[in-house]
Amino acid sequence: MMNDIFKSHPIIKKVAMLKANDLYPFFRKIEDSEGTVVKVDGRDLIMVGSNNYLGLTHHPHVKECAIKAIEKYGTGCTGSRFLNGNLTIHEELEEKLATYLGHEKAIVFATGMQSNLGAIPTICGPKDLLLFDSENHASLIDASRLAMGTTFKYKHNDMASLEKLLEENINRFKNITIVADGIFSMTGDILKLPEIAQLAEKFGVNIYLDDAHGIGVMGDRGRGTMNHFGLTEKVDINMGTFSKSFATVGGVISGNTETIDYVKHTARSFMFSAAMAPSAVATVSACLDVINDPNENTHERLWSNVKLVRDGFAELGFYTYNSKTPIIPIFIGDDIKAMQVTQYLKEMGVFATPVISPAVPKGEALIRTSYMASHSHEELGKVLEVFKAAKEKFSIPSGLN
Ligand SMILES: Cc1ncc(COP(=O)(O)O)c(C=O)c1O
Repeated sequence: MMNDIFKSHPIIKKVAMLKANDLYPFFRKIEDSEGTVVKVDGRDLIMVGSNNYLGLTHHPHVKECAIKAIEKYGTGCTGSRFLNGNLTIHEELEEKLATYLGHEKAIVFATGMQSNLGAIPTICGPKDLLLFDSENHASLIDASRLAMGTTFKYKHNDMASLEKLLEENINRFKNITIVADGIFSMTGDILKLPEIAQLAEKFGVNIYLDDAHGIGVMGDRGRGTMNHFGLTEKVDINMGTFSKSFATVGGVISGNTETIDYVKHTARSFMFSAAMAPSAVATVSACLDVINDPNENTHERLWSNVKLVRDGFAELGFYTYNSKTPIIPIFIGDDIKAMQVTQYLKEMGVFATPVISPAVPKGEALIRTSYMASHSHEELGKVLEVFKAAKEKFSIPSGLN
């Protein structure tokens, strides 16, 4: 019986132990949400554990456009873009996104994960090689498992390690693609794209960027990590998600016309899965309107909030991995301590989530916090106050052990 197999599994035992000790920090039930404040167990908590970087999930213009799209097209497309699910607003959004990102063409998928699962296998046939940063997102790892070719990993953001792999393999494979996150999701690290672009040019290989956390945040009005470095034309395929800054679900890949047309006619998660829902399409389009509206000051507010919090944590003596993005990880060390601190934050009115092994090496547990353009200074002040008290109560270290 399946039940017998999993009853004694270490994961199930660990979940039971954490629940028994009131330390289980996952699948919290959010009863209500105003964006920066959510209700859990009947209490308001300041949200610093989401990816809603621009705070647009509750923006009036964004909500209104999503509702109007439902009224016009209904709640779903009930089919693949390829067959019966291709709406005019899908194509309009793709044109808007291509212009925004600075690539010739873009296509949207139902999720970011599906974008990677679909696109990566199309660019990596049996004779091809993917060179992966060792901290790449799980969706890229799964995508590489679907690809017919070979994958080798280089050490995280270590250009010597990447160059060595390029030297060793350049004559062994037909097409080689360097694949990496633009912003690494746990630590907020920025990819060394200028060095990668130089290596790609030197060895004549391609670049695929998963910019899930960079799109909407980095560069000119959120045009992404490639724009931040002024290297848009050096990135062959850029992937982004709408599940973070763009306040809904969905994903996008962009590149030159032929590449994107090829992916459009071969990516299985695109062709054999239903189209992005109309309300999600309209949400992304409305987010672009807000981003491009100078009166909204979205990015000015985001970066001034990030500076305020980063300076605050530095003053309080937390180790934050030198983060330069809205993702500010707080080093804790021990897994159980990270969960105790998370629980304490909740009791004190702050929602954040721990990152524990195996997501990070044992002894390197952290609390991942992230900030929104829509957080008020008062909310951020309260968050810092609560972390200050937690530091004293749990002796949170000021550096890596
Ligand atoms: C780096 C990265 N890539 C891809 C994804 C998948 O995106 P989505 O949530 O749209 O499926 C995520 C989201 O967790 C991510 O952080």
